[in-house]
Amino acid sequence: MLDLWYKNAVIYCLDIETYMDGNGDGIGDFVGLTQRLDYLTGLGITCVWLMPFYPSPNKDNGYDVMDYYSVDPRLGSLGDFVEFSRRAEERGIRIIVDLVVNHTSDQHPWFQEAVRDRESKYWDYYLWSEQKPEDIQEGGVMFPGLQDTTWTYYEKAGAYYAHRFYDHQADLNITNPEVRAEIQRIMGFWLALGVSGFRIDAAPHLIELRQADNLFERVEDPYIYIDEMRDFLSWRRGDAILLAEANETPDELSKYFDHGDRMQMLFNFWGNQYFFLALARQEAAPLVQAFQDLPPVPSIGQWANFVRNHDELTLDKLSDDEQDEIAAAFAPDRDTMWIFDRGIRRRFAPMVNGDLQLLKMTYSLLLSLPGTPVLNYGEELGIGDDLSLEERKPARTPMQWSPGKNGGFSTAAPEDLILPVVSEGQFNYKEVNVACLRREPGSLLTWMEQAIRLRKECPELGWGQWQILDTKHPSVFAHRCQWQGNVVIAIHNFSPDPCTATLTLKDDLDHCLVDLFKNQPEETVSAPTHEFQLEGYDYRWFRVTNSVI
Ligand code: GLC
Ligand code: CA
Repeated sequence: MLDLWYKNAVIYCLDIETYMDGNGDGIGDFVGLTQRLDYLTGLGITCVWLMPFYPSPNKDNGYDVMDYYSVDPRLGSLGDFVEFSRRAEERGIRIIVDLVVNHTSDQHPWFQEAVRDRESKYWDYYLWSEQKPEDIQEGGVMFPGLQDTTWTYYEKAGAYYAHRFYDHQADLNITNPEVRAEIQRIMGFWLALGVSGFRIDAAPHLIELRQADNLFERVEDPYIYIDEMRDFLSWRRGDAILLAEANETPDELSKYFDHGDRMQMLFNFWGNQYFFLALARQEAAPLVQAFQDLPPVPSIGQWANFVRNHDELTLDKLSDDEQDEIAAAFAPDRDTMWIFDRGIRRRFAPMVNGDLQLLKMTYSLLLSLPGTPVLNYGEELGIGDDLSLEERKPARTPMQWSPGKNGGFSTAAPEDLILPVVSEGQFNYKEVNVACLRREPGSLLTWMEQAIRLRKECPELGWGQWQILDTKHPSVFAHRCQWQGNVVIAIHNFSPDPCTATLTLKDDLDHCLVDLFKNQPEETVSAPTHEFQLEGYDYRWFRVTNSVI
C-alpha cells in the first residue's frame, strides 16, 4: 500500500513533435527529447506523459492512429523509444503513454481491410449501418463546427460508420472480443517496453456501447470493460496505472474508480472548470463547492489535477452565464479565443497577461490540491500561445529553450517547423525561454523547481485525508491534509488585494506552523482561530509541527 508511486508524483505532459528536434528537420523527436531528460530531472518531475507518437496521418495531432505497435518515423524508431525509456528509468522518471483506442484513423490497415472486404474479420472491428442512424444522442458530435455528424458514409464500404470525433476517426467496436484482445496486445506491448501506465483517451466514449442505437447487444454495465482492462494491466505489471480522460459529472466519476478496481487516476476536469470560475470571480466558493461535490476516492485512487492541457479549456459543465464571466476575465474575444462554443484555445499565462504573482499562486494551488499535479510542457516558463493558428493549435506551439534561432527548438528554417515558435509580443521566445529564466532568481521556472521540490517533500498533499477549511474571507481557499500523523495546511488568495484570513485550527492548537515557501518566522497556533495576513494572490504552505514554542 505504501508503494503507490503516483500518489506523490509530478506528471509532465509533452508532445514529442513540439518538444525538441534532435536532427534539424523541424519536427521534435525522441533523440531530442532524450537530450532533455536532464532538464526534466532538474525540474523535478517524476513521470512523463507522452502524447501519441504512433504512425499517423496526423490530422488530429496524432490522436488518429494508423499503427499501435510503432513509432511515427518522423519522430524516431522503436529503438529510439527504448533508449529514451531506459534513460528515463535511470533517472527515476516513469513514462505514461496515450492509449487511443476509442477509434483508429481511417487509414489504419484494420479499417482499410474492413472497407475492402466485408467478409474480413476487420468489418466487425468497427460500427456499421446500412441506413444512416439518428445521430448519437447524449453529447452528439464532439467537435461542433468542425464535425457535422457521428455517422459518415464510406463509399467503398457502401455503409455508414460511427465516429464520435472527426470523420477520419472511426470508432472501434469494443463489444467485439477480438477488438478487446487487440487492445490488450497493445497494452502488453508498451508495458513490455517499460511504460508505467496509460492515459486512456476519450474514456467515456470508449465504454459507451452504442446502446441507444440498438445496433448491438445491450450490455447492462459498460463500466465492466474497465474492470477487464484493469485486470489485464495489473496481471502484466502490478504497479502500472490507468489515468482516464473522463470529463464527467461527479456521480459518473465514481463509477470509473469503483472500489479501487478500475481506474487508479482520473483527470479532475470538474475541479478545473470551477477553478477558472473561482479565479474569474476572485472568490474561493466555486472551487470549494467543486471539491465538495467530487465523489470519495478509494484508497488507491487519485485525482490528476491540471491547469491547462493540450486541448481547449473546456467549460462545458458551467452555465452560459458562468462561461461569460470567465470569458470576460480571460478570453474576451469570442471569435479568436474560443472554440466548439464551450472552451478557450489559449494557454494560461496569456489569459492572465503573464501576471507572475497570479501564475505562482495558481501553480502553488495545483501542486497542493488533493491529488497529483499534471503540468503541460512550457507551463513552467509561462509560455504563450499563437491565436493565428487554427483550431486547438494555439496552445500547441513548440517548447522555448533559448533566445537563439527558433527558440532553440530546432535548427531548421522557421518555415519548416511543425508549428511556429511564439515570436511576437510579451511571450516571445527571446524573453520566455529556459536558458534565460533559469538564471533569473524570481522567475516562474526557478520558482517552479523549488515548488516541485517542496511538493515532493509534502507527501501529505498527495496521500492524506483532506479537509477544506473555513477562512472567513470570500477570496481565500484553504485546505488541510493529514497523513500518518503529519499535517500540511495550504492557503491561497484568489484576489489581487491583500486580506486577512481567519482559520479555525482547533486540531492544531499549541502547535507550530512552519512556513514552507517563505523564509518567515514560525507561528504558533495559540487560540482556536488563527489569523493570516495575505498579500494579493498570496500562497502559503505550512507544516504543523509538534513542538510547542
Ligand atoms: C481526446 C484528446 C484530443 C483528441 C480526442 C480524439 O479528447 O485529448 O486531443 O482530439 O481525444 O482522440
Ligand atoms: Ca526531428
